[in-house]
Amino acid sequence: MDAAHKGRVVHSLCHARITGQPKRGVMKSVKTQRIVADARGVAAVAEIWQAGGLVAFPTETVYGLGADARSDVAVASIYEAKGRPSFNPLIVHVADMAAAEALCVFDDTAMRLASAFWPGALTLVLPLRSDAGVSKLVTAGLDTLALRMPDHGLARKLLTAFGGPIAAPSANPSGRISPTTADHVIAGLDGQIDVVIDGGACDVGVESTIVRCVGTPALLRAGGVPTEALEACLGASLVMPDDPAMPQAPGQLASHYAPVGAVRLNVTEPAAGEVLLGFGPVEAPLNLSPAGDLLEAAANLFACLHQLDAMGAARIAVSPIPETGLGRAINDRLRRAAAPRG
Ligand code: TXA
Ligand code: MG
Repeated sequence: MDAAHKGRVVHSLCHARITGQPKRGVMKSVKTQRIVADARGVAAVAEIWQAGGLVAFPTETVYGLGADARSDVAVASIYEAKGRPSFNPLIVHVADMAAAEALCVFDDTAMRLASAFWPGALTLVLPLRSDAGVSKLVTAGLDTLALRMPDHGLARKLLTAFGGPIAAPSANPSGRISPTTADHVIAGLDGQIDVVIDGGACDVGVESTIVRCVGTPALLRAGGVPTEALEACLGASLVMPDDPAMPQAPGQLASHYAPVGAVRLNVTEPAAGEVLLGFGPVEAPLNLSPAGDLLEAAANLFACLHQLDAMGAARIAVSPIPETGLGRAINDRLRRAAAPRG
């Protein structure tokens, strides 16, 4: 990327940060930059991640859409660029075991799988450390984290140059197939993201296998590492998705985080005893975005829900939130939180 391009990207990021305006309007007129996978390209990507930007990058499975996993705003931008209608938790990518162990707790089973298959096309869902420092938007408020160490020379260089955890779902618009070349990424997300770094075609071409290692190991998603190889390594069967003992999959079912208090949506006049979670210019003890900015609201959502718990809010009222852009994902999450509980 030349200096002019970099200036434009950083300008758009700063614009979003300073004005609080979603950067999508700015980015639309700017085409996604394709950058070459040389030392300059690696340094440019690390700099964009440090500034809170989005970069699509190759892994051995599929291209990921990466951002700093510690930044609420950067992670909210991932959902915005993908047009995801819900906040499904994301996979965090790390360069080495030290970075992995700073984020999650590894028991013997997890350590055995990591030793055998990392770096590689295996994602482990593990207990999140309380001091991990990962945005709650990455885990959708869960106390587990999906973690993976990719086996791809360029991905590893990028992660090492950045020096922190990168949250990355597949780099495709929501509901479309995963990209395995930079051309696929551009076909789906042109103008929605800052840059794609072109590392050629992905070798594996399907997403990583996901194993939950909390209690009995369970297969959450079949993928690049065959189930048989995992079972041979463990010397035991994995709990399978159709098994009644299977933990519920986040995104579909109620294992997502919900606040303790009862939630009422689309409230303009809170009742006595209700704590208002505001949006836009309203008087409220907590406000997702006083400026009415959906990117900011998404970035604040899970932190606000946790804060309502910390305040002991028994009844929560939420201001109306527009059903557009990131508002769809925010409302999806809030509707789950407001649904009758079993
Ligand atoms: O190969 C891959 O895994 C690619 C590359 C880019 O790494 N990434 C990918 O991410 O496929 P994504 O976001 O498209 O899929 C992530 C999956 C989702 O099905 C999500 O529900 C699951 O991981 N997941 C994430 N965190 C989880 C958690 N804490 N518990 C259970 N499932 C989780
Ligand atoms: Mg995907």
